[in-house]
Order: sequence, then C-alpha cells, then structure tokens
Amino acid sequence: MKDFKDKIVFITGGASGAGLGQAQVFTEAGAKVIIADMNQTRLDEAIASGAADKAIKLDVTDRDGYAAAADEIEKVYGECPDLIVLTAGVNVFGPAEATTYDDYDWVVGVCFGGVVNGLVTFVPRMIKKGKGGHIASTVSWGAFGAGPTTAPYSAAKAAVLNLLESYYNALKPYNIGVTALTPANINSHIYESALNRPAELSNTGYNVSDKTQSFLASIHANGMDPKVLANWLKDAIEEDRFLAIPYKSGPRMVEIEMERFRYLAYKGGEEELAALKATPERQAEAAQMMSEREGYDVKERGPIVQDNKKDDDAPPPVFNFDTGGFGQARGDIEWVKDEKKYKG
Ligand code: NAI
Repeated sequence: MKDFKDKIVFITGGASGAGLGQAQVFTEAGAKVIIADMNQTRLDEAIASGAADKAIKLDVTDRDGYAAAADEIEKVYGECPDLIVLTAGVNVFGPAEATTYDDYDWVVGVCFGGVVNGLVTFVPRMIKKGKGGHIASTVSWGAFGAGPTTAPYSAAKAAVLNLLESYYNALKPYNIGVTALTPANINSHIYESALNRPAELSNTGYNVSDKTQSFLASIHANGMDPKVLANWLKDAIEEDRFLAIPYKSGPRMVEIEMERFRYLAYKGGEEELAALKATPERQAEAAQMMSEREGYDVKERGPIVQDNKKDDDAPPPVFNFDTGGFGQARGDIEWVKDEKKYKG
C-alpha cells in the first residue's frame, strides 16, 4: 500500500501510546482513521485532538463487540477497512515461576487473543471486498526473546509474530500485505495496564503497586516517540515488508537476538555464546544497539539495575537487561526464591 489518502484505517489501542501515534500519522497522510479502544476518556481526547475520524469503544477480547465494530464501520464508511493495525496490548512482569492462570489469561488474552479476533473478524471481509489491503500489528521486541520475568508477554508476542508470518504467506494471493512492528521501549502508558486488570483476572503472582508502575513509567519516559515509531511502520507498509524493526541497526539486532538458538542446540554452546558476547567488539555493538532500543546512552548512564528491595525504598529507576531482572513475585508465594520476591 503506497497511498493512504482516503483509505479506511482501523487501529486497536488507538487512544494511547503507539496506537495514538499511528492514528496521528495515518490521519496526516489523508486516511480516514477509526480508533478502537476500551478507554473511553482517552478515545474522547484523541477525537478532540483531531487524531482520528471516529472512535469505537471496544474490548479486543470481545468477539461479538469486534463483529459489531466491523459492521458499524461498513455502515458508516460503506466498506470494510483497507488497513487494520492491531496495537492494543497490556503487560505485567514477574518471575515465570510465580505466574498465575489469571496472569496468562489476561496478558495472552489481550495480546494474542485480541490479534486473533482482529484477524478472524476482518480478513474475510477484506478478501470479500476484493481491493487488497494491509494488516499490521504492534508486536514487540519481546517476540524475539524470552526473559525470566516476561513469560506471558514474550510468549504472547512470539505467538503473534509467528501468526502474522502465516498470514503474510497466506494472504499474498489476495494482495493483502502483512507487517509486524517490533519496537522495544515506547513512550506510552502501558505500565498503567497492570493496575487496571479486569476484576475476574486480577489474581496475579507478581508484585504490582503504584510504586512499581511508576518505576516502569520512568523507563517508558525514555521510550521512542509514538509518531516516530508509526513512521517506521508506515515505511514498511509502503514497501510491503513483513518486519518493521524501528531501528537503523534493525536487521543486525534481530540476527544477534536470534543467534542464541544455534548455541542452545549443543552442549557447551551457552558458554561459547557468553564468551562471544564478552568480546570488546560485541560489547561495543551491544551498547550501541541498546541505546537505539531503549532510548538512552548506555555508555553514559551505565547498565540499569533494578534494586529488588521492598519498593517503598524507591528503587533506582530500572532493570538489568541482561538478567531481565525487573518484576518481583508477590511476597507470599513460598516456592519463589527470596531474592525474586517483594519484601515489603
Ligand atoms: P498504551 O497503554 O499507551 O496503549 C495501549 C492501548 O491499548 C491503551 O489505550 C489501552 O486502553 C488499550 N487496550 C488495552 N487493553 C485493551 C483491550 N482489551 N481492548 C481494547 N483496548 C485495549 O501502551 P503502548 O505501549 O502504546 O502499547 C501498544 C502496543 O505496543 C501493545 O501491544 C504493547 O504490547 C506494544 N509494545 C509496547 C512497548 C512499550 O515499551 N510500551 C514495547 C513493545 C511493544
């Protein structure tokens, strides 16, 4: 898709962060943008700011609601969208061994299930419309990795990436492109999501409090500007490219991130990889790529390391990217090692 003028663009999670940036960029490119989100206040603000043409209140886990949103769009605009951007997502972090069913059901339900619902709702409609089109999703850099404290989120995002690749191949004969956007840190409100879980999925194994969330807020303050990110996505859609890694070293970054599987496949491989990563060339390259991904200069600021003490102690703003050390378990989960637990 090269020209967005008068195209109908549907964006989930469009009221905030990455989705709002996408709405702004496609609106500026002349598209008729519909934002869908469960946060009515932010939807209203987005419409008032001129970021989109129309807002629909939608929980992406609600399949009937999704079908009703698609019907409404066809009624108002006369046809289904040309471009759908599935961006709504949530996250929460803590040790994998503390994760509850509710943690999985909530995170996977929104991040993976929400994308599935978008695809099942819109793909048949786009094919029947017969004008081609494009499907994009804001996945995550987390799709390439597996952190000790990111189990539900990384698993959901890896599943989305894989799913999108299937659709990328399946939809070529219909002239429908597919793009996976894989950012690391974005300047957004995602840290608020863990405090606003549905009541029926609120039994978490992790320590979540205003303090831990404000700690995450300080990380996201360094994140990529949502409009800058949206322009990386727009470029990839224009080029009909599957992966939109929003960094100039993107192809090399993904190569390095995925090389671990080669070393995990034989005895002694992990040690070999650790030695490779410790070489000065690799250290310098890693620091430079971390700056691109996380939005700050590692050499100036040093690695960020989370303090795992009780969070009333106002921990230093951050986490250790190497150990994935952010996120504590709830203090009362007895099988989790003490150093991984909230000690408040
Ligand atoms: P955000 O919280 O600012 O925006 C996400 C929007 O999704 C919010 O407006 C929220 O109300 C909406 N949402 C959440 N659950 C929903 C549901 N069930 N139904 C409908 N809308 C729902 O967060 P951000 O960061 O802009 O997140 C957008 C996407 O980017 C997510 O998929 C997230 O996983 C992904 N991402 C975020 C990163 C970051 O550093 N913030 C990094 C990599 C990926």
